[in-house]
Amino acid sequence: AEQFDRELLDRLYSLTNIIRSISKTKNGATYLANRLRDKRAMLYFAQASTRTYLSFKTACDIMGINCTDVRDTSTSSEVKGESFSDTIRTFSSYFDFVIMRHPEESHAEKAAWVVNSSDRPVPILNAGSGKDQHPTQALLDMYTLRRSFEKNGGMDGKTIMMAGDLNRGRTVRSLSKLLCLFPGVKIIFSAPAGFGMRDDVLQFLDKENVKYIVTEEFVPHLSKADAVYMTRIQDEHDKNDGTTSKRSYDDFSLKFEHLSLLKPFCAILHPLPRRDELDPKIDNDPRAKYWRQERNGMWTRAALIAMTGGAEPQIQNYWRDLSL
Ligand code: CP
Repeated sequence: AEQFDRELLDRLYSLTNIIRSISKTKNGATYLANRLRDKRAMLYFAQASTRTYLSFKTACDIMGINCTDVRDTSTSSEVKGESFSDTIRTFSSYFDFVIMRHPEESHAEKAAWVVNSSDRPVPILNAGSGKDQHPTQALLDMYTLRRSFEKNGGMDGKTIMMAGDLNRGRTVRSLSKLLCLFPGVKIIFSAPAGFGMRDDVLQFLDKENVKYIVTEEFVPHLSKADAVYMTRIQDEHDKNDGTTSKRSYDDFSLKFEHLSLLKPFCAILHPLPRRDELDPKIDNDPRAKYWRQERNGMWTRAALIAMTGGAEPQIQNYWRDLSL
């Protein structure tokens, strides 16, 4: 997430809107599908995923990219002892993009170092790395927040409340870093004792002069938020003892009866998948943006792929000509 500055984020926001709009025009889908038709992508998912995998795959389809995946790493020559570096170099031998999710932190960053110093550098797109980062999720979260606040004064100065297992939630870590790019944004980190946001992110926010509060209360803060970003317990990171999955998160769950406490235009977000922390009865409330957020993932990732694949100027020119 630190790779994005405001200018790049604004470009991505604009390109995402343009791609969405073009796709709805006559021949628009065909135009988009011809932009990167000669390109190939490797989807290397060494960790479970539904929506990140599917939205990246669909985003590639939109841009006309041919995809291959590795989702079961027991079929990779890594089981024969091949190093991660050699595996990544092999991907870059055959593919023009590597989209990767990995249980270890910084794996995408390491992959980028490997391919950038090779004779065939290709873009590496981080689809989630360990407990550390999920930057493309943060990009689609930002897109959803900005769209939600378009008619309510924009992002600047808004209060974003993040709740749940913030200690191990990689989406909130990446999102916190992108929120620094908007003047006056305040963050409420609401988590049970022992599950709060880690110090490295708080230090990052301090350096960027972002105001935040850290609290072990949930309900008393709901009325202050312009957006409530719920997260689930990340007990897949338990060390085989299931300790945290036995804990009750009832006090950090958004329930139907809490809706009356929220501001009238408050955006409710969740990266999904959810468990009990977000009541399905909320789904039909106009403030619930999480299914739209999920769909925005496909468009944001299509824009990111178009940008990294060099198709951005053509698409912008095409849209400008259509709009004249
Ligand atoms: N939000 C998210 O990363 O979901 P998946 O694990 O289903 O990809």
